[in-house]
Amino acid sequence: MRPGAKAWDAPAYQQSHSYIWRYGADLLDLLDPQPGERVLDLGCGTGHLTAKIAQAGGEAVGVDNSPDMIERARENFPELAFHLADARDMTFDRPFDAVFSNAALHWIKEAGQALDSIACCIKPGGRIVAEMGGKGNIERVVSALRRALATTLGRPRREVDPWYFPTVGQYSRLLEERGFEVSFANHFSRPTPLQEGEEGLRDWIRMFCSDFLTGLESGVEDRTLTLVEDDLRPDLFDGTRWVVDYRRLRFQAYKIGPPLTG
Ligand code: BEZ
Repeated sequence: MRPGAKAWDAPAYQQSHSYIWRYGADLLDLLDPQPGERVLDLGCGTGHLTAKIAQAGGEAVGVDNSPDMIERARENFPELAFHLADARDMTFDRPFDAVFSNAALHWIKEAGQALDSIACCIKPGGRIVAEMGGKGNIERVVSALRRALATTLGRPRREVDPWYFPTVGQYSRLLEERGFEVSFANHFSRPTPLQEGEEGLRDWIRMFCSDFLTGLESGVEDRTLTLVEDDLRPDLFDGTRWVVDYRRLRFQAYKIGPPLTG
């Protein structure tokens, strides 16, 4: 794992947050993998979508920058190839027909660098199909977290915001600057129910917003999370489960140029 990269609890991710790859399943319709195609699953996590791509008859390769995720993916699907790699500087011996990515690209703030390396590993005429958090993603949760931290710490916290949630225009421009033609782009709301009932929001925050909680004593962390729940309960708890304000950016873009033959 690159220094500073987020550490993931792969078993908890697989058990309690499986909606992430379940929602990604319909992104596969946009990818439409064909038999014989070589597809890179970027940010493959526990490998479930990599396996679905492989079921279409192509050669699927999964990469992730978390050693724990790669280990779990290999355990889940020993017949598939998974590699530890950083999207910002990946290299492969052969190019891909397509790069697929679900819920991973927003973790890469250096989006231009990641797209440079993605562009290098796609054949001319090949495509990228991806979904990531778009502008406004989880804004209510993050605002509540900032308010709660200001209360429990007695001052606003200068935490590092670990994500890049772009607009269609911002990401399309990055793609076009690297020789891609954007054939589809959509920015939409997808209120997302969490697992684990009452505890779901605090578990989710601990898993995905851990940068905001780093260094807090456990009592302060607990009080902060309780304030967040109190703040958001009227709008984001439906009586049974928490529903988080996800906003997605989904796109498909082709690398301009004739396909390689042979
Ligand atoms: C997401 O959009 O998938 C996401 C973004 C930040 C934290 C958790 C999930």
